[in-house]
Amino acid sequence: MRTKILNIGQLVTMAGPEGPRRGSEMGRIEVVEGAGIVIDGGTVAHVGPTSEVEGHMADETVDAERGVVLPGFVDAHTHIVFAGQRAPEFEMRTQGKSYQEIAAGGGGIRNTVRATWAATESDLAKLTARRLDEALSLGTTTLEAKSGYGLTDEAERKILRVVRDADGHKGMTLVPTFLGLHATPPNAEADHDAYVRHMIEDVLPSVATEGLARYADAFIEDGYFTHDDARLLAAKCRELGLGVRLHVDQLTDGGGARLAAESGAVTADHLEQTGPEGFKALAGSGTFPVLLPASVLGLGLVRYPDARGMIGAGLPVVLATDFNPGSSPTLSIPLVMSLACRLMKMTPAEALTAVTVNAAASLGLTDRGRLVPGQRADLSLWRLRDWREVAYWMDGPRPCALWTSGQRRSPDLACP
Ligand code: NIG
Ligand code: FE
Repeated sequence: MRTKILNIGQLVTMAGPEGPRRGSEMGRIEVVEGAGIVIDGGTVAHVGPTSEVEGHMADETVDAERGVVLPGFVDAHTHIVFAGQRAPEFEMRTQGKSYQEIAAGGGGIRNTVRATWAATESDLAKLTARRLDEALSLGTTTLEAKSGYGLTDEAERKILRVVRDADGHKGMTLVPTFLGLHATPPNAEADHDAYVRHMIEDVLPSVATEGLARYADAFIEDGYFTHDDARLLAAKCRELGLGVRLHVDQLTDGGGARLAAESGAVTADHLEQTGPEGFKALAGSGTFPVLLPASVLGLGLVRYPDARGMIGAGLPVVLATDFNPGSSPTLSIPLVMSLACRLMKMTPAEALTAVTVNAAASLGLTDRGRLVPGQRADLSLWRLRDWREVAYWMDGPRPCALWTSGQRRSPDLACP
């Protein structure tokens, strides 16, 4: 099947070298005006001015009516598989209770763990399919998906099987991450060290052997997991051939950026509290900073990560939703871009780089994130005149058409 899309007002190709863009390179993107694109099977075959693309043979021709075409977004940090919601805690925060206070009272992550335990694998699969449709309708075609609301061998595996089975939903790609070290489980006040050992020495190896995870993650924060826990996890991951992604410096500056860099982590996620020392450590390591501004907004906090400092330090910044029921109940990459531009002073070009090429590179994927010949044909068409409008409309617009792996898709947005 060959498709050609003609009469594109602006086609943002993100053309340039394979791999991440660092520092000032993040602001240089290629926008082709009056463009066309040819898709052959699952890949991009040709990109050029409409006049040049017109002559190509195709089974189907789409008139973009001067709209904008973008590469499919890559959301490099989500907790998409869970049951329930946390609206009561949301109300408690409006009354002045902090995230940590709510967690100390038995809520927070453990609240969602209880709801996820009560859900069957098929319940979770249905919830996940609906959320993937929502993400697709917002222009996202690839997502990282963490476990972490199971916290027992069986329940973590249940979540990771849901991720495995959802991979390929309407042509989307899911990249699985084991987050056994998200919190200790709510039932028995398990001995912290025994829990960590069990997750790292028993659960992680079998999850890896079964191919249920490509990365492992841990929530490094006061009251959750320690630097020593992260080092043990990283050592086991090296043995098993898994990559490491770490939640660090979200609520307190615990030196998490340096920890991530020294542990050889692929990503250091959050970094709201990190300063220049941390940026220096990351710059020397190749670890990607993954910034999650929707989680700052979601918790009603005011300190956003210092994206300008990180770009100034030459880092390959990534932006992601952190979609989860506690801190970030949104799947909208356009909203994340809007927040990053307004509150972190990233330029629209930097924000787009952070959710396409850089996000893909942070997941080890070099076949997407750009619209150049040979790349996966994951793309979206928007009824906009200027590509910057994706971040400009404050609550995030939606595309009017989408392709994953070369096929046109319709997200199902029907109410349950
Ligand atoms: O990334 N910080 C840890 N994990 C999530 C929140 C999870 C939850 O509250 O359920 C985050 O913000
Ligand atoms: Fe998270």
